[in-house]
Amino acid sequence: MLTTTNTTSLPNILLIGATGRTGRLVLESALTRGYKVTALIRPSSALPSHPSLTISKGSPLETGDITTALTTINGPVVLISTLGQTRTSGNPFAATTSPPLFMSASATAVAEAIKGQPADKVKKVIIMSIDYDIFDMRQTLEDQNAVDKIIKESGMVFVMPRPAMLKGDTALSVKILGDAGEKSGFMPSVSAKSVAEFILDATVSQEWDGRTPVLAN
Ligand SMILES: NC(=O)c1ccc[n+]([C@@H]2O[C@H](COP(=O)([O-])OP(=O)(O)OC[C@H]3O[C@@H](n4cnc5c(N)ncnc54)[C@H](OP(=O)(O)O)[C@@H]3O)[C@@H](O)[C@H]2O)c1
Repeated sequence: MLTTTNTTSLPNILLIGATGRTGRLVLESALTRGYKVTALIRPSSALPSHPSLTISKGSPLETGDITTALTTINGPVVLISTLGQTRTSGNPFAATTSPPLFMSASATAVAEAIKGQPADKVKKVIIMSIDYDIFDMRQTLEDQNAVDKIIKESGMVFVMPRPAMLKGDTALSVKILGDAGEKSGFMPSVSAKSVAEFILDATVSQEWDGRTPVLAN
């Protein structure tokens, strides 16, 4: 994990998916590290209050809602999305209950909202993706492939981490299994906490810009 001592140099974070398994850990760690965070959450959702947390209610599919969240933030922003398709159970292989191409519809809304902002406002987008090698689910892969295309073609600075199977609770060191999982062994896994720390490191490091690193412990 990178250590950050000067919190005045940290970008603001706009976090989409803050109520999810990984999103909650990103939020918790971001606040501990001294970031100011705006979380875009469903109108029906809530998060514990914190002096450095602003809640913006709306939909990750609506360009206008993302724009509203962005315009309330002063200064540079890194947009992080830990959004996920909803499923019939907690099993990552369970059938999705999200609308078809939900993730890519949100990526389109994100790209549109950022296009409407001053050119230097959003410094980077970090979108949590999946390790394509282990998640062999047609609708999910089709959707994630579309996210890849939208984000890569948007011209934005991006990082799209592709975690292996989320497993375990502790932050352990992260191994990068290549940008396409070419160094994967059998059923690699990574803790959501390790992914959260990696994402926050990537807000300030340029090491992973333009990359799709497959993450494992
Ligand atoms: N599970 C794995 O092993 C694994 C491995 C690698 C990558 N991934 C990927 O990593 C990402 C994050 O995974 P996770 O397990 O942390 O996600 P998660 O716990 O399922 O959280 C998903 C987030 O997306 C939000 N969301 C879903 N549908 C929404 C909608 N229609 N409108 C507004 N918000 C919506 C949820 O909000 P609510 O709380 O309001 O529903 C929640 O904040 C996913 O894309 C997943 O595919 C997962």
